Amino acid sequence: MRRTIDWAGDAIVIIDQTALPSEYRLLHLRTVGELVDAVKRLAVRGAPALGAAGALGVALAARTSDNVEADAELIATARPTAVNLAWGVERAMKKLPQGGQAVLEEALALLTEDEELNKAASAHAAEVVLAECPRRPLRLLSHCNAGRLATVGWGSALGVVWHLHERGLVEEVLVDETRPLLQGARLTAWELAQAEVPYRVQPDSAAAAAMARGLVDCVLVGADRIAANGDVANKIGTYGLAIAAKHHGVPFVVVAPSSTVDKSLADGAGIAVEERDARELTEYAGVPITPADAQVFNPAFDVTPHELVTAVVTEHGRFRP
Ligand code: MRU
Repeated sequence: MRRTIDWAGDAIVIIDQTALPSEYRLLHLRTVGELVDAVKRLAVRGAPALGAAGALGVALAARTSDNVEADAELIATARPTAVNLAWGVERAMKKLPQGGQAVLEEALALLTEDEELNKAASAHAAEVVLAECPRRPLRLLSHCNAGRLATVGWGSALGVVWHLHERGLVEEVLVDETRPLLQGARLTAWELAQAEVPYRVQPDSAAAAAMARGLVDCVLVGADRIAANGDVANKIGTYGLAIAAKHHGVPFVVVAPSSTVDKSLADGAGIAVEERDARELTEYAGVPITPADAQVFNPAFDVTPHELVTAVVTEHGRFRP
């Protein structure tokens, strides 16, 4: 299976996540402008994949730009919430004094590490899930997409599903569709189908009802930024899921590489939450679905307080706030 994001010759190559699942196509990004546009449009998305985009973006700038610092700033700020984006840019920028080839090598090393670290984090998280949830086989609930497509390869929260599925321990995954951009219905469902893991897509608003009916053994999500105290920013709707999970006594497990931890923030109050275009809500597939003058509240992420989280798991095991 190819990487979600990689380098080929003179370009960054990504799987175009705006086209899935109806079309599997690759995009070749040859300028920083094309990369920034792809990040903003969510053609490449998910915190770890954005870290890779940040580092490869600096490698691209080092080859094509006469102002790498300015381009690095454009890339790092293309989206505000996932700390990995700026982290990937910073890591690659440290190699700039050694030249473009050194930057590219650093970016490629980051890509390789991303797969390894997500595999390790999700292996640890699989053990946490098995310890927290007595029922076998497991019924898991997923929100947004924290799979291969959100990372360079393997995945974080969905990586746990791959580990457990390999051991025959997954009954089904309930997939929140994840309004408004449908990362769950389009991307997570596509990945689960490819891996032949049983799943059902549900509206986000069905998640609490599924827990009330006893259909969920564990909620598994990724993260875009984790504050030092363990507060977690992730896709909008995660906070509501955590409240529902607490109410129903369902374990709520967050899986992420340690590059998603932002120790500079004491708690989640300092996390910048991206607000996205109103048209993501006022239109559906280009067709208006609200009154023309409807005002919109469209935060892309929310912050879940650490008290609602059973465990945050990284490649080092359980995160200690
Ligand atoms: O807006 P997106 O699709 O980039 O949001 C992605 C998420 O919220 C993911 O859950 C998060 O980045 C973790 S991915 C391993």
